[in-house]
Amino acid sequence: MSSEKRKILAIETSCDETAAAVVENGRHVLSNIISSQIELHRLYGGVVPEIASRNHIERINQVIEQALKEAKVTLDDIDAVGVTYGPGLVGALLVGVAEAKAISYARNLPLVGVHHIEGHVSANYIEHPELEPPFLCLIVSGGHTNLVIVEDYGVFRILGTTRDDAAGEAFDKVARAIGLRYPGGPEIDKLSREGNPQAISFPRARVEGAPYDFSFSGVKSAVLNYINQQNMQGKDIPKADLAASFQQSVIAVLVEHTIKAAEEFQIHHVAIAGGVAANRGLRNAMQAACEEKNLRLYYPSPIYCTDNAAMIGAAAYYEYQKGVRHGWNLNAVPNLRLGEHV
Ligand code: KG4
Ligand code: ZN
Repeated sequence: MSSEKRKILAIETSCDETAAAVVENGRHVLSNIISSQIELHRLYGGVVPEIASRNHIERINQVIEQALKEAKVTLDDIDAVGVTYGPGLVGALLVGVAEAKAISYARNLPLVGVHHIEGHVSANYIEHPELEPPFLCLIVSGGHTNLVIVEDYGVFRILGTTRDDAAGEAFDKVARAIGLRYPGGPEIDKLSREGNPQAISFPRARVEGAPYDFSFSGVKSAVLNYINQQNMQGKDIPKADLAASFQQSVIAVLVEHTIKAAEEFQIHHVAIAGGVAANRGLRNAMQAACEEKNLRLYYPSPIYCTDNAAMIGAAAYYEYQKGVRHGWNLNAVPNLRLGEHV
């Protein structure tokens, strides 16, 4: 095989999607298989860790087999195995890590452990061949909220982070409070299109004295208080207006911080990543703000925003090119920090 075409088999099992992909040279997706467990977890209103691990172990081989089949390759064509080893649910991560180790051991293939959030950022490389570091990236997922400068592939300067809930977590909690199903982000996104974002005034998720940090617990509490008040007064809850107003209050701060950072650090290329980057309101608001300031905005298609293995294949390729190889002692690291390499 020509050395220019590196094919990575990527595996992602950090939460509730069992996923495998084959990605060539970090940008060209040959297959992207996602077996979602959402229906199972929906019964409980959120992810149940033990159920997640048990389902990963049941499905992982079939998902990998399908990824190879759709890519029209066999393990003989694969140059390295990439796998998410943190952060995430430990039992869930272990399934992917053990599988990746078994394949790389049996086939004598290099093993590349990937940081899940580096994967989310790298999802932007898949459909934007022209995008290269440095750029600014807002990462908004169910477990993380970070504003970072991507200085180089896999090299991050963290400007801000959340002080409490992650952005996606806030969406999920507010959705649950108004009786929407899990995961709540896409439900709020849909419902808010029928509502008035100015109907109810909720606090903004800013943190005094920390211009790039976020805090979503105040907005969330304000929503819960509003619901209680309405209930106590025997009034209906205007769900669409509430969804639109909540979403607007979150988006306003996400956009404001991102644009402020782009201006302060003189970065003209801006990306968004993570499950919440699929939010239509956020994409539109960020696009409008970037156009106004002459900034170029990048975001992945929704399928690459939420958890998938193609993004892990993209990140793994750049780690592989840097010479990163993990040994047989690779373990799951549930609290792995961004930029930390274990
Ligand atoms: O990145 P992701 O799939 O998993 C983590 O790494 O956490 O993100 C999942 C989160 C959930 O909180 C989900 O509600 C949220 O992303 N999400 C959305 C949308 N789609 C997914 N939030 C707002 N609008 C959406 N369209
Ligand atoms: Zn994720």
